[in-house]
Amino acid sequence: MRTPLCDLLGIKVPIVLAPIIAPVGGPAGPRLAAAVSEAGGLGIIALWLAEIEVIQTRIRDIRSLTAKPFAINLRLDLGVVARLEACLEEGARIISLFWGDPSDVAPRAKAAGAIVMQTVRSSREARVAVDCGVDVVVAQGWEAGGHVWGNVATMALVPAVVDAVAPVPVIAAGGIADGRGMAAALALGAEGVWIGTRFLASAEANFHARYRERLLAASETDTIYLENLFDGGPWTDAPARVLRNKTVAEWEAAGRPRPGQRPGENDIVAVSASRGDIKRYTPVAPVTDIEGDIDALPMWAGQGVGLVRKIQPATDIVREIDAEAQTVLTRLGSLMRA
Ligand SMILES: Cc1cc2nc3c(=O)[nH]c(=O)nc-3n(C[C@H](O)[C@H](O)[C@H](O)COP(=O)(O)O)c2cc1C
Repeated sequence: MRTPLCDLLGIKVPIVLAPIIAPVGGPAGPRLAAAVSEAGGLGIIALWLAEIEVIQTRIRDIRSLTAKPFAINLRLDLGVVARLEACLEEGARIISLFWGDPSDVAPRAKAAGAIVMQTVRSSREARVAVDCGVDVVVAQGWEAGGHVWGNVATMALVPAVVDAVAPVPVIAAGGIADGRGMAAALALGAEGVWIGTRFLASAEANFHARYRERLLAASETDTIYLENLFDGGPWTDAPARVLRNKTVAEWEAAGRPRPGQRPGENDIVAVSASRGDIKRYTPVAPVTDIEGDIDALPMWAGQGVGLVRKIQPATDIVREIDAEAQTVLTRLGSLMRA
């Protein structure tokens, strides 16, 4: 499968690994991103929380693993300018921005010759992004896993954004987990797909075995969109979609109280070698260095989780989705001729 987006980004397949804030414990972020880039897609590493030296190391790590294009994801409301400068100095050529207005930051990245991608939640935001120089718009639907910027479902959002910014390329995010979803996104006018939840079940993702087990067992009804349940630190008052778990169940049973009044707020539910004690409601996903009550922690996942059935190398995920999308589109084409 090839779209004009592939030429712009220098990739072979219009499948993008959604940035997944790099799990602790080494180069899991670069390893997963490099695997997707090596498979012909675009790997992204999220470095919006990283210290400047870590940004340099992570970019060098991914470079040592692939000579193919990759992108860096930065959050617009968190020390973005210094981190952007570090990325650009390290030679990053594609920058993905999210959680805010890119009007001040996108032109800086453009001036340094980078390609800029911006995640949006509406056609109006998409227009603002393009007007300040953004090259690629990522339309994130409400089905998405992890932190969710807007409230509109992918099916309605993508064509609205496509119409608002044409001919600027749009990538569809949220609920796309297989080739049928990819074919549908292309039918809506997207030039590529941006996939998070399916890659949580990749062999390269550094998540706890229990999180993986829950991902594989979950159906499309097992996630919940939360305004601010797993709240704090960099994610205060930030909506997110997670797998339902015991923390969610106890909070619902208590009548969904606000932060400050939730059951067991001071419970230490887990401990991590890198972070120390972890309290209930902390927005930290279970990675491999965490021990304790894993089922109490937020397991970010989108509604497409019902389509995630096995752990696979990231390369296989890219190839399988690409091949299935081609099969679906061929079948639809033959229906038209019938
Ligand atoms: C575990 C997890 C972590 C995420 N971290 C980030 C992030 O750091 N930056 C970002 O722009 N999006 C992040 N997202 C959201 C993705 O970019 C994307 O919009 C979403 O995964 C797409 O929907 P899907 O999960 O249904 O594929 C994250 C998603 C997940 C599941």
